[in-house]
Amino acid sequence: MIELAIFDLDGVIVDTAKYHYKAWKRLAAELGFFFSEEHNERLKGVSRMRSLEILLEVGGIEKSPEEKEKLAARKNQWYVEYITQMDESEILPGALAFLREAKAAGVKIALGSASKNARLILDRLGLTELFDCIIDGTVVSKAKPDPEVFARAAEVLDIAPSKCVVFEDAFAGIEAGRRAGMYTVGVGDPEILHEAHLVIPSLNDASFTDLCNRLPSNP
Ligand code: BG6
Ligand code: MG
Repeated sequence: MIELAIFDLDGVIVDTAKYHYKAWKRLAAELGFFFSEEHNERLKGVSRMRSLEILLEVGGIEKSPEEKEKLAARKNQWYVEYITQMDESEILPGALAFLREAKAAGVKIALGSASKNARLILDRLGLTELFDCIIDGTVVSKAKPDPEVFARAAEVLDIAPSKCVVFEDAFAGIEAGRRAGMYTVGVGDPEILHEAHLVIPSLNDASFTDLCNRLPSNP
């Protein structure tokens, strides 16, 4: 019996990847190279600093730790400008209905995101109040696939990992959920998310109760 549903933010509830891409591409252009959408795929679910390191690798550029801090801050400043313009219309189709269905089923709802901007995004989308617990990049030190972000949510709400289900669009996030001893539902491409207990294309037209019934008896 599931008692807690933990949701990744970027790619599950909202498509912020396009804004991350816009900002990273702008930074790459300033540094004198083109950063493609394909390269951007590698940044999904990855921390801000690790994303910058991948970008610099792509551009064949080396920077000192101090310069990296400055570049990451610069990218984030642009990113925050973009996401500050967001509103409820950017909630991915079906996500709000799905969150509400889970709540109505008596399940607690948590956010498990690597982003340090997660609270700002939830506020812009008008979703903050729906969450019983928000664990984001400002409170965890280890990035997915480390299970810390999901384990913390279960700990805060005092729910056994075996009663939790994680919704994730990134391979590293599925691994994190499994390592936390939780059920995992991949949201997106089954070829990428094959380690998940179940995979759905999106939250649109998905039923929370139906998915819970289809989970195996043990995570
Ligand atoms: C994840 C995104 O949710 O958050 C990554 O999928 C991003 O692409 C990471 O790099 C960190 O986000 P932020 O907002 O703290 O820079
Ligand atoms: Mg994601």
